[in-house]
Amino acid sequence: MQEQLKELVKQAETDIQACVTANDLMNAKAQYLGKKSVLNGLFARMKELSPEERPAFGNMINQSRTQIEALLEIRSKQVKEQAWMNNSNASSYDLSMPGIESSRGGFHPLTIVRREIDEVFLSMGFEIAEGPDIDDDFHNFDALNTPADHPSRNLADTFYLENGGLLRTQTSTVQIRTMERYAPPIRIISPGRCYRNDKPDPSHSPVFHQVEALVVDKGISLGDLTDTLQQFASIMFGKKVGSRIRPHFFPFTEPSAEMDISCVVCGGSGCRVCKNSGWLEMGGAGMVDPNVFDILGIDSELYTGFAFGLGIERIAMLKYNIPDMRILFENDLKMLRQFKGELR
Ligand code: PHE
Repeated sequence: MQEQLKELVKQAETDIQACVTANDLMNAKAQYLGKKSVLNGLFARMKELSPEERPAFGNMINQSRTQIEALLEIRSKQVKEQAWMNNSNASSYDLSMPGIESSRGGFHPLTIVRREIDEVFLSMGFEIAEGPDIDDDFHNFDALNTPADHPSRNLADTFYLENGGLLRTQTSTVQIRTMERYAPPIRIISPGRCYRNDKPDPSHSPVFHQVEALVVDKGISLGDLTDTLQQFASIMFGKKVGSRIRPHFFPFTEPSAEMDISCVVCGGSGCRVCKNSGWLEMGGAGMVDPNVFDILGIDSELYTGFAFGLGIERIAMLKYNIPDMRILFENDLKMLRQFKGELR
């Protein structure tokens, strides 16, 4: 009996191998697995056996059946491939065949927000300036009127390079680079990466982004700073959003301030996002310290200016309701794919 089945599978293999068309294969399938096949006949004879003998016998038949099915499948693939090859040799293409879908990429949420910020300031007459991520003590500290013993110069805050350079800790370096190259009037923004020796947590990352703004001209006042901030907040977050500045300290601005906008989530009444204060911190600001002008040879009697630095992560987190800054740097595709549709 076992011998007979082995013979049958062997015969099937030879016959299936000899198939050249899909039709041949269909016939072979009918012959070996169909209703009138030998295998099927054997199944029918199962009832002649005793109940004890049936399982082993059934198993044997099933095994042969599986083998023959596998042979048919392999040959069927070969036949299809051959048919396809014959077709393409004759240089005839199947134009109805579906193409290979290429998936379209999208922008990172930080890029989307940065571009939006760019557009807001461009619409207000600003130009975009750039500076290097790897900078030096002069542009990151000295020219920004930062004393030699200022804590931000510490290794615990700043990444220094072996060649004496450093990774800029703020985009304020571009204020200096712009004033070195151009005489007033100046009206620039500078978006870019900054680096600080911070441990990642929900609101810190060793790499983050700022947008610096610098305006220098005759007669620039604190009112121009608050107007610009309010204008930006209204375009970026909507007409109803308010803004304010609070006294603060930065070595390179005098007076210095921190900028807030009214909470875009609760409208100012207090919620979890604004920690019940009704306000959201946007960054640092101030009037350019005359010392900075003096270092760069700009006449501080004639010119005044304001500057500020906005945190881009903060704005992206508010805009997209992202609770943890680290999410912006993990590049989890499940997160990134949600921004595919936003083409800005
Ligand atoms: N550079 C400051 C910071 O990173 C922000 C700032 C920019 C403050 C411009 C004043 C003027 O904290």
